[in-house]
Amino acid sequence: MSNEFIPAAKPIVGDEERAAVDAVLVSGMLAQGAEVAEFEKEFSDVLLDGRGAVAVNSGTAGLHLGLLAAGIGPGDEVIVPSFTFAATANSVALTGATPVFADIELDHYCLDVDHVGSLITERTRGIMPVHLYGHPADLTAFRALADQRGIALFEDAAQAHGASFDGQQVGTFGDFAMFSLYPTKNMTSGEGGMVSTGDAGIERRLRLLRNQGMERQYENELVGFNARMTNLHAAIGRVQLTKVGGWTAQRQSNAAFLTENIQGVVPPAVAEAAVHVYHQYTVRVEEDRDGFAAALKDEYNIGSGVYYPIPNHRLPSFDRKEDLPNTEIAAREVLSLPVHPSLDTEDLDRIVTAVNALAKAGA
Ligand SMILES: Cc1ncc(COP(=O)(O)O)c(C=O)c1O
Repeated sequence: MSNEFIPAAKPIVGDEERAAVDAVLVSGMLAQGAEVAEFEKEFSDVLLDGRGAVAVNSGTAGLHLGLLAAGIGPGDEVIVPSFTFAATANSVALTGATPVFADIELDHYCLDVDHVGSLITERTRGIMPVHLYGHPADLTAFRALADQRGIALFEDAAQAHGASFDGQQVGTFGDFAMFSLYPTKNMTSGEGGMVSTGDAGIERRLRLLRNQGMERQYENELVGFNARMTNLHAAIGRVQLTKVGGWTAQRQSNAAFLTENIQGVVPPAVAEAAVHVYHQYTVRVEEDRDGFAAALKDEYNIGSGVYYPIPNHRLPSFDRKEDLPNTEIAAREVLSLPVHPSLDTEDLDRIVTAVNALAKAGA
């Protein structure tokens, strides 16, 4: 058996992406143009059941502009998980609104619907669940809760390309949803984000906000940003879009193998109505998670990741005092094992052997 390092993530880019970028370079049309428009159409067809899609230059910009386009601003509250990447709450704070942190459910690490319900006040304008690790939040319940309370639903689908809930694709439930196209995500454009919305007003404002507030050149209608995606990035994304379905199936098959064979750690659960796309395969190590991760690397040459060791509400940038017990357990115990589509059966066997040996030894 080889002892080559198995990385926690491995972006796959090859000759087709290189040829696509080269064609854009040769065309001389580097900035946002026809490639971006095609990428938006194709992303919508493949992943959004035809819903509107607007490409931007990062997932974070997508969340920020989406919130602004939905009218979120100072004095408003948006309920978010604390157990997520900081971009979720940052994007709310950057609009001038206040992120209100809710707890998660421990089995799948997504927002707890009941806790979110208890935090809604007269200032709450929206709920933003995160489909963490590629597992969809309970979108049926969140859509119903938002409608019942007259507030908006925003999806942070950064990690969940192709996931679905109750047979419906993520990104088609919310007033808007954002998919990240960062290199370690299930598909990439190098850097980038895609925002989906079924609301024509939000879509138009998104298109204005990403381009200095202009639809027609030098006729700025509102104060905007330069958050445009380039044709170079869109060309990479278009190729990746043709492959993401196959990669997802491979991730799901790798995850099924791991769940069947690992012992002594808590495997990821999947809600009955959910299709999980395993951006991460995240287990809980109940004793000494950090020692376990160090031993995986030092003794078995296997990478892993902790997403996320410090909940957002305790980061110096927010410094809040909320009591979020499941969030604290998750931050202390989660460990993401390699699940990416480049793993072969030998890699998977090595991961199982290492995890089972370390769990048995109590790390
Ligand atoms: C849950 C979540 N939200 C938002 C983002 C931000 O996306 P990007 O890195 O493309 O700006 C990420 C990416 O890491 C993420 O994982």
